[in-house]
Amino acid sequence: MYGLVNKAVEELVVSNFGEEKWELIKEKAGVDVDVFISNEAYPDDMTYKLVGAASEVLGLPAETILVVFGEHWVLQTASKSYGPMMKSSGTSFRDFLVNLPNFHTRVAMIYPNLEPPRFQCTDVTENSLHLHYHSHRPGLTAFVTGLIQGLGKLYETPCSSKTIARKDEGADHDVFEVTWG
Ligand code: HEM
Repeated sequence: MYGLVNKAVEELVVSNFGEEKWELIKEKAGVDVDVFISNEAYPDDMTYKLVGAASEVLGLPAETILVVFGEHWVLQTASKSYGPMMKSSGTSFRDFLVNLPNFHTRVAMIYPNLEPPRFQCTDVTENSLHLHYHSHRPGLTAFVTGLIQGLGKLYETPCSSKTIARKDEGADHDVFEVTWG
């Protein structure tokens, strides 16, 4: 994954737990990188190891870290560094989710070797939809839960999401039932 992902993990840890904990996490993960370069590709394995080590060092389940990271990604990384791109992708929570399937096409203009997730919306009503999440990467269901929560906060729209199908339980892909309003 591009360096901006690892950079965001670093920012999340450092701002909440301090520099020392981050150094410990990197050491435990066997990651010997001083500065992550946003537009440089790093092995996915490095990101997984960082999350695993963060879970051990901070004493939090990896799922919790992924949920919090999803929120942080939307509210800090995306909103602050890519504000115009986020704004142009929808004026409401519902709009943003409906446009999400096209979102990473634009991200790929900045990061040409992106291997993005694929989203699809079905069963769309005024206050609910099913969000389908396809990826070749395992274990990121909780990250998507956090992303949805973050978007709810960004649009000041109280929302909830429930995983109604999971790839790690044998389904073809993850499906989230999202409701709001
Ligand atoms: C401007 C904002 C965003 C940028 C710059 C961005 C960029 C990226 C990058 C660089 C990756 C790593 C993949 C790679 O390097 O090949 C990624 C992965 C991912 N992004 Fe985004 N993204 C943004 C917003 C979002 C939003 C709003 C969502 C969903 C609500 C989202 C969902 C995901 C997911 C689930 C992954 C994990 C990869 C996978 O599942 O295979 N992203 N994104």
